[in-house]
Amino acid sequence: MTSNVALDELARFLNDVPMNSGSSDTPGRRFYVTTPIYYPNAEPHIGHCYTTLAADTVARYHRLKGDDTFFLTGTDEHGLKMVKTAADQMTEPGILADKVVAEFQKVWAELDITHDDFIRTTQPRHKLAVQEIVRRLQANGDIYLGAYEGWYDEGQEEFVTETEAKDREFKSVVSGRPLVRYKEPTYFFKLGKYVPRIQAYIEANPEFIQPESRRNEVLSKLKMGVADLSISRSTLRWGIEMPGDPAHVLYVWIDALSNYITALGYGTADDSRFKKYWPVDLHLIGKEILWFHAVYWPAMLFSLDLPLPKKLYAHGWWTSDGRKMSKSMGNFVGMDKIRALGATHGYDAVRYYLLRAAPFGTDLDWTDEGFNKAFDELVNVLGNLLNRVLNMVNKYRGGVIPQPATTREKIDDDLETAISGLAAKLQSAYDRCELQQCAMLPVELARQANGYVEATRPFSLAKDPAQAERLDTVLYLLARASYHALVGLLPMLPAKAMAGLEQLGGNVSGRSLQDLFANPLAAGAKVGTGHPLFPRVETK
Ligand code: MSP
Repeated sequence: MTSNVALDELARFLNDVPMNSGSSDTPGRRFYVTTPIYYPNAEPHIGHCYTTLAADTVARYHRLKGDDTFFLTGTDEHGLKMVKTAADQMTEPGILADKVVAEFQKVWAELDITHDDFIRTTQPRHKLAVQEIVRRLQANGDIYLGAYEGWYDEGQEEFVTETEAKDREFKSVVSGRPLVRYKEPTYFFKLGKYVPRIQAYIEANPEFIQPESRRNEVLSKLKMGVADLSISRSTLRWGIEMPGDPAHVLYVWIDALSNYITALGYGTADDSRFKKYWPVDLHLIGKEILWFHAVYWPAMLFSLDLPLPKKLYAHGWWTSDGRKMSKSMGNFVGMDKIRALGATHGYDAVRYYLLRAAPFGTDLDWTDEGFNKAFDELVNVLGNLLNRVLNMVNKYRGGVIPQPATTREKIDDDLETAISGLAAKLQSAYDRCELQQCAMLPVELARQANGYVEATRPFSLAKDPAQAERLDTVLYLLARASYHALVGLLPMLPAKAMAGLEQLGGNVSGRSLQDLFANPLAAGAKVGTGHPLFPRVETK
């Protein structure tokens, strides 16, 4: 036992609330998780849902563990992309933002996203704090006036070096649109000054950037040399004014990255939330915005003399039917489709498919076949197990979970080991952000329990009065296995896992995950009646 763990134990014993440094199995720890703030220039789609559902699942897990959890999402409303889209739609960027932000908020409510705050970068609380941040960067001597000449990817709001521009054939790697040549006076942030420190930090902290392959990409790019960063635009009006020079607005990424601390009140009179939750435990982002988070953001934080995030996790990108999603190609997975699936299969099924589809961090491809397969797994493995357990306990034991016999067989021990091992395996998977595992581990337990039904044949045991004790053990273990699988799925399938536990008769509300796992359904508990957790859906 390390001394930290010993201290945590002591803190728990004294019923104290440990600080951020508590080991991850310590209840009462603080946990802060964020999504990127999305551009409200177009409606939300599966990509935004993916990151937000992932963050929501992680946040729910920590809340259930009893951690004091803060989950932030929001919208990134300034910059050229917003101005251009608004102009195309013959409207103003602020009006466009209001309209699309309302759509994002509606979608998050429909998907039952449990964020604690939604920050909009056009809110005064953000704008004032960003100006304070830039004033502090200026006070540290990290900002100077110069002139920028070079390439810009307007869709990504990203400066592109000459070499990168050539490699990319002067086109955006994301949108494919031509890069634009900029030549204008600008304020620079001394990014170059911080590069050696950033590099050393990434090298010394292997957990900081995940997955590993992405960390290596960042390190190789850093080694190629990094110039100072242009952080203001004098040709744009839609942004936060540069402190001390109203002719410039701030580069949208300086404005956007700051959201992670402005939402906590950093730089304002009330920074209690900032003091409580910073440094953030997990920034969840898509792989295309890792560079901003892995290099620009740490440099800003170093200049502000603030601790760096504990982890950046850059997940993969969704394509659809093997191609980049696009409305014109007809393979776009937008809210229409997600809502239709939510109506027929339930949003938990969408959540399960998205997070179970591939290891978190790799690219993913949406196929209807893949979705149906994931849904079938829920029906045939989880739903089926629960149904079997409830039917058998009701039919053979009057709805009361029997006391197991003292004699055990190897197959019982195997199932018992799987049941009691689930909590620790899940914790390790959540700690490492292996969200596919978080979805699969409880379902694998349910699969093993279904195998146990086939091997022990309780329906045959029920016919033989001499086997009554054996049947008691089998039913008891099956009830425990389905209960544990459902408890393990509470963060991943919040509605369905809760409904399943209600059928099992478990009293769940207000209890922590540790308590639920440690004090499961006991012999003598009364179960409810079964009705299909995942009703089959007729597909055309
Ligand atoms: N505004 C910036 C982020 C600023 S964070 C300080 C931005 N916004 S965005 O609207 O373009 O959203 C990008 C994010 O949406 C990705 O990083 C990812 O989280 C999610 N996704 C959008 N499309 C996606 C896919 N096709 N697949 C997976 N996720 C993607 O960038």
